[in-house]
Amino acid sequence: MTKIIVANLKMCMSTKDTSEYIKSINKIEQENVIICPTNIYVPYFLNKKYKVGLQNISSYDLGPYTGDVSANQASTMGIKYALVGHSERRIHQNEKDEEINKKITQALKYGMIPILCVGETLKEKRNRKKIVKKQLEQALKNTLVNKVIIAYEPVWAVGTNVIPTNKEIEEMINYIRGLIKKRYDKTNIKVLYGGSITKENVSRIKQIENIDGILVGSSSQIVDEFMEIIQKYLK
Ligand code: PGA
Repeated sequence: MTKIIVANLKMCMSTKDTSEYIKSINKIEQENVIICPTNIYVPYFLNKKYKVGLQNISSYDLGPYTGDVSANQASTMGIKYALVGHSERRIHQNEKDEEINKKITQALKYGMIPILCVGETLKEKRNRKKIVKKQLEQALKNTLVNKVIIAYEPVWAVGTNVIPTNKEIEEMINYIRGLIKKRYDKTNIKVLYGGSITKENVSRIKQIENIDGILVGSSSQIVDEFMEIIQKYLK
């Protein structure tokens, strides 16, 4: 089965950085690479061999919601994917599971594939299964679960250079799969791992057999490093 690689470029690149980045990234041929640029740069990334995703999507349809981008708008531009519930939004924008559920519903309504990010903080690590279960159940309430990609991203591993052991990741991925099977009777869900993946540790992450791919943040913003990650992970 082909693995997926998602790049979260966050809000980190200037216009100049982006145009340099595009020169290199456009050389990649893999259709299973999904790049999530800052919204205003999205048009520069469209209609290439790779796929494009948003970093967030509105919980509303079209309407007077200043600053938001809806799934209705994104889907008609050919954008297929959207990150939903990323920990940086949960933390800085105080995004709650109920709102995340509405975003997933919107994305699915317009045929987009939401990439739902879940994961515990360091303080919650001992209760991680309970935390992740709650996040999943609330976010996926009344949705078509089999159309959603799940990314397990422990908050303490996002942007910290601290990464769980393979055993810890494997255990949580199995837990998520088991939960989805039990709760929704679905077995074909794609589950990714994300948090502090680099060109140095990607070969180690590749050894985890039960993941369908990876979500890369900071290391995807340096184009040479990201290309190396793709090459190492997909080879
Ligand atoms: P990171 O970010 O790779 O910088 O830890 C991961 C993410 O944005 O999901």
